[in-house]
Amino acid sequence: MASPVRYLTGITTTGTPHLGNYVGAIRPSVEASRRPGTESFYFLADYHALIKCDEPQRIQRSTMEIAASWLAAGLDPEQVFFYRQSDIPEIPELTWLLTCVTGKGVLNRAHAYKAQVDKNTAAGVDVDNDVTAGLFMYPVLMAADILMFKAHWIPVGRDQVQHIEMARDMASSFNHLYGEHLVLPEAAVDENVALLPGLDGRKMSKSYDNVIALFGPREQMRKQIFSIVTDSRAPGETKETEGSALFQIFQAFASEAETTDLRKAFAEGIAWSDAKQLLFERIDREIAPMRERYDHLMSHPQELEDILKRGAEKARARAVPLMAELRQAVGLRNLATGAEPAAKGKAAKTALPSFKQYREADGRFYFKLVDPQGRLLLQSKAFASPKEAGQRIAMLRGDPASAARDEMVEPLPESVNAEMVRQSLEQLAAAQD
Ligand code: TRP
Repeated sequence: MASPVRYLTGITTTGTPHLGNYVGAIRPSVEASRRPGTESFYFLADYHALIKCDEPQRIQRSTMEIAASWLAAGLDPEQVFFYRQSDIPEIPELTWLLTCVTGKGVLNRAHAYKAQVDKNTAAGVDVDNDVTAGLFMYPVLMAADILMFKAHWIPVGRDQVQHIEMARDMASSFNHLYGEHLVLPEAAVDENVALLPGLDGRKMSKSYDNVIALFGPREQMRKQIFSIVTDSRAPGETKETEGSALFQIFQAFASEAETTDLRKAFAEGIAWSDAKQLLFERIDREIAPMRERYDHLMSHPQELEDILKRGAEKARARAVPLMAELRQAVGLRNLATGAEPAAKGKAAKTALPSFKQYREADGRFYFKLVDPQGRLLLQSKAFASPKEAGQRIAMLRGDPASAARDEMVEPLPESVNAEMVRQSLEQLAAAQD
């Protein structure tokens, strides 16, 4: 069976979910988690929350609200990995290993940090005003979240793409130094997920104070919907669907047939209040059944706690072994087991270069040759099947001189040259006899 494709995303626990979060993230993620052949990792990024929020009550409250919202929206915690970042001690541990392979200059260019620096510069104050080391390190923590679970695809908004690229670079630096341990992730930006407009027509966002709460009381949702800004056309006058926030929000919930009906009603001059009533009823039809589950969870926090603890156990079953492997790779090792220089017998035998075969997020197959220290010697091109990759490996083993120029690591690190590649292959061939 093909190994599953892993999706992972985190939600910073500082706010209360609104309808925009539901349409843009929660609903598509819950749907995606049901696709066969995938594994989904969704987690509450509460360590990230500490970067921008120093109110303990708010973080606790937001963690509850977000967890309850995702579960109420249909996320099945048995089917996915649903956990709280701070329940996985291996994440800060990995953060440190990655910190040590990340150039400070790279972090200088991270958007969140740079935005604050630019703001300070414009205000004529010290560039590092209001910049904590946490803000600076934010991309490294995020990379640890991702690399810890060997995620392939990271569904995020456009603003996060740079962070995924940084995670990818950190994984590659780490692999280059210590061997093929981490999977290189990629951002999955969904162009089709419409940005939901808020009450005033701008993007729905807490910072614009124009949101419709996802699981507030029913009456509150009704009031908020009735306060959507419309133009002053009277009942009977044709309404424009183009640029109408009301219409766009409706569209995010309705079937095509329902949308066509509303378009017709707009053309025929439906009164704004009637259109708002239709919108309210349409949203309520989807949300009301979930609201019951939400209210239940919010009044039974122990249930939420148990679900998250169980999720952390599942996640740690992945994180603990990988972390052990990485500690070993970097040299944080048990002193009583095989120090390399004195290796004898079995240990000496295993100190051979090795081929590693793997599948990338692009669905194609690759291999690498790494030396016993984990240095990359050879990097294959893409193959359509593991069989073809295997055939190429067999050929290299049988005929070391056939190593092609375009399989050499580019640019060749100083410490690796064609001669070393050939010697390593010969060593392997000899060991086989
Ligand atoms: N920084 C992300 C945001 O603010 C949240 C986040 C934390 C995240 N860790 C992540 C997203 C890992 C994707 C993958 O939206």
